[in-house]
Amino acid sequence: MPVNWESLFADRTERMHASDIREILKVTAMPDVISLAGGLPAPEVFPVEEFSLAFERVLAEQGRVALQYSASEGYGPLRELLAERLGRFGTRCAADNILITNGSQQALDLIGKVFLNPGDRVLIEKPSYLGAIQAFDSYQAEYAIVPMDEDGMVTSDLDDVLARERPKLIYALPNFQNPSGRTMSLQRRTQLVEAARRHNVPIVEDDPYGELRYEGRDLPSLKSLDFDDLVIGLGTFSKILAPGLRLAWMVLPDALYEMFVLSKQPADLHTSTIAQMATYEVCKDGFVDRLDALEAYFPPSARWTKAEGGLFVWAELPDGIDTRELLIEAVAQKVAFVPGQSFYADRTGQNTMRLNFSNVTPDRLKLGIERLGGAIERRLAATPARR
Ligand SMILES: Cc1ncc(COP(=O)(O)O)c(C=O)c1O
Repeated sequence: MPVNWESLFADRTERMHASDIREILKVTAMPDVISLAGGLPAPEVFPVEEFSLAFERVLAEQGRVALQYSASEGYGPLRELLAERLGRFGTRCAADNILITNGSQQALDLIGKVFLNPGDRVLIEKPSYLGAIQAFDSYQAEYAIVPMDEDGMVTSDLDDVLARERPKLIYALPNFQNPSGRTMSLQRRTQLVEAARRHNVPIVEDDPYGELRYEGRDLPSLKSLDFDDLVIGLGTFSKILAPGLRLAWMVLPDALYEMFVLSKQPADLHTSTIAQMATYEVCKDGFVDRLDALEAYFPPSARWTKAEGGLFVWAELPDGIDTRELLIEAVAQKVAFVPGQSFYADRTGQNTMRLNFSNVTPDRLKLGIERLGGAIERRLAATPARR
């Protein structure tokens, strides 16, 4: 008799399933489909030359160190550099607070591993980052879901929600949120940090997009507004250098550092030594500071969006339009996007969609939007009663 593998799976796998949307989106790899579905940075701006030189230099000068096992905490000089750089942006931390991870995605998984027992609640925005929901789902989390508006997470009822739902953690995306592209106002940031302090609930501040601001001024991070060591900061090289590096960092309060190192060790021992060393080599002379995100990531013709940064535009269509059905029609018209429902921990948001504008040329973006507009019109016409 063949083994019944499913009967052997642990309870925590119950909420791990492939999305049907992924199946539909597979066709978007075809060259004639304009995909606004991904979350990919524009590959033309990857610093290929810089990395080529950096790897060469690292291998020539420190090859035997670069190819060896190394510390779970991460490469010392890279941690120093990050602490100094974060300090310039108002985040008080030392290299000893920085843990290098395999992408922020690993950081989210470690957060689940360290904090979440089955049934523990995480307070998240509605909608929120799909990868975080998947990470917390795999630790059998439940959610307290807080609405958003143009100023980000709505904070007016936070005290009530925190008192009633007693979440273990707050997961917040203050800059150019994925998927909505929204940025949290300064007032909301302050209110969030104050409410977290009143209720003693830690905040996970996930900020992959903060440096991709094309207009307007930077707002202080939650970490810089926190004087009680309640904020765990997450940052990544994925959107400022290249996601294939799988290199990111956590800024951890002193009291948490050791536990997170212990949680990373059984996962992967450490993040790639050579990737960290080459990235340090690329960054040490200020390369990241010279990046011009505006030109690099934002196609000029995409001004139709109100996003001041990041990679995404969020759209809400009239009630009654199901964007999962719309996707089938859109793919037939050779344009793709991600239906928004997956970003809602409570599975609402059927009429929403996320559009990525960083991975297509301006001309194709325009054509894609045009095709999408046509598909939406046709769906609206097909559902006149709800229009
Ligand atoms: C909000 C958010 N957090 C985390 C990640 C994961 O990034 P990384 O490539 O560092 O794992 C992403 C990637 O798109 C993201 O949008």
